[in-house]
Amino acid sequence: MKQRIVCLLPALLLVLSTISAQHNPGVQIKKSGEYPQLLVNGKPFLILGGELGNSSASSMEYLKPRWSHLKEMHLNTVLVPVYWELMEPEENRFDFSLVDSMIGEARNHDMKIVLLWFGSWKNSMSCYAPLWMKANPKRFPRTPDSSGRSQEIFSVFGKETLAADKKAFAALLRHIKATDEIKQTVVMVQVENEIGMLPTAREMSASADKIFNANVPAGLLDYFKENKNRLVPEFRQKWEAAGAKLSGKWNDIFGEGVATDEIFQAWHYARYANEVTLAGKAVYDLPMYVNAALPRPGKLPGQYPSAGPLPHLMDVWQAGAPAIDLLSPDFYNPDTKYWCDLYARNGNILFVPEMQFDKAAAAKAFFIIGHYKALGFSPFSIESDNSGSLPLAKTYDLLQQLTPMITNKQWLNMEGVLLDKPNKKTVLKMGQYQLVVTHDATLSWSPEAKDSVWSTTGGIILQTAPDEFIVAGTGLVVTFENTDKDFVTNIAKADEVSYINGTETKGRRMNGDQDHQGRHIRFAVGDWGIQKVTLYNSPAKIDN
Ligand code: DGJ
Repeated sequence: MKQRIVCLLPALLLVLSTISAQHNPGVQIKKSGEYPQLLVNGKPFLILGGELGNSSASSMEYLKPRWSHLKEMHLNTVLVPVYWELMEPEENRFDFSLVDSMIGEARNHDMKIVLLWFGSWKNSMSCYAPLWMKANPKRFPRTPDSSGRSQEIFSVFGKETLAADKKAFAALLRHIKATDEIKQTVVMVQVENEIGMLPTAREMSASADKIFNANVPAGLLDYFKENKNRLVPEFRQKWEAAGAKLSGKWNDIFGEGVATDEIFQAWHYARYANEVTLAGKAVYDLPMYVNAALPRPGKLPGQYPSAGPLPHLMDVWQAGAPAIDLLSPDFYNPDTKYWCDLYARNGNILFVPEMQFDKAAAAKAFFIIGHYKALGFSPFSIESDNSGSLPLAKTYDLLQQLTPMITNKQWLNMEGVLLDKPNKKTVLKMGQYQLVVTHDATLSWSPEAKDSVWSTTGGIILQTAPDEFIVAGTGLVVTFENTDKDFVTNIAKADEVSYINGTETKGRRMNGDQDHQGRHIRFAVGDWGIQKVTLYNSPAKIDN
């Protein structure tokens, strides 16, 4: 009898794990409602992440000593490349050992993972494809440069290339499902990496020309018909300038030039990425996104990695790749607000998978999470020794403390502020109040007041009751005014607070010099903290 029970045990465990998987909601993006969220094991999850340098996940020995550092920086998620060349070194022979050890380490450190599929393209090139593919251009065609020479860039029209990518990606997702569906350590997947065409705006091969000279596919034109009034303005203008036609060839519909070449290429990249995404989702339906290299100002298509999921091509990507959940910007330029605003259109939910890892990144995390309600934030090369590490650790510490409040929407209004070079003041309307947020260095007694260059500072503000605000950040001064001019607003109390597992602990009462005798609340440059502020109002007019 005892022996029979032992024999039945594995089958029983399998049944139990299947039942548990069935009752366990998968990782999802809740898109409905005013506040989109990533749900992991059924609970909202805010990604306080960091992306590994490109080669770091190819050696577990290299990475092993760095995990505890990531944990000390209060990261809850690591963005980890999966290298196709190492995962499928020979056709149909898959090796998931690196992925498995990454998941194991993440679990040991109570962290989550976003997998980055370095598949057919990585920053425009095809350097991460397996050698058995790269060395067989007949089967896996490459793109020519402008002089006709072959480049290590797969053609988007390679049917066998797409089939191989889909197969490998599905194998990866199958493995993740089998090993991680219950624990949900892997919470999102990036499909390819910074897809983009260089150094021409589109492929210039004979086969590409043939497709370019044929009619624009109905899929794209139907999208125009159905979404005419919500196309992003710069794209709509281009289409309307050429006559807003609903049939014809690429040059007929968009006019001749590199911008049209880019639209053509974007459509085909989007279709390809959509197929890869669908192949993965059919096996294990995780949230999936694509990322884009942002162009430098004044550059034309072909001079930057073109045709990726860029803001001016959002419609093309959304039409061509409906299986993709998010289009995400990678930031290596300072215009954070400008680009985030462009990505927060057309219902796109913001997630920043790459942010230049410098001292300013810490302030940007507050802004992007507070203002855009982003799913998460992640500086690049997170394991490197960096001047940004300590500031980021301090920001993530505060955001981690506030996470239950942020994700359970225990706020009436939430905002983020970024005080960078051109912006030293932000005015916010929250409930009945106007908040004026200025850089700490605007105070003559700030440590940076006399410096010619001020640090980038920022914060997050949650209005938790009509007269109550929780402010967290660094290098900020916040004043509160009543929008009803018949009343004056003053600070009833400002307390330093911290939150451990959602439980509030009070620190100092911030009065006197700390709140400039009741005039404002302040976090000096170089200080990070959370303050809870209660306001009171009195009539503006004095009757006596
Ligand atoms: C953006 C890419 O997506 C990353 O993989 C990396 O190459 C960085 N650029 C820059 O190092």
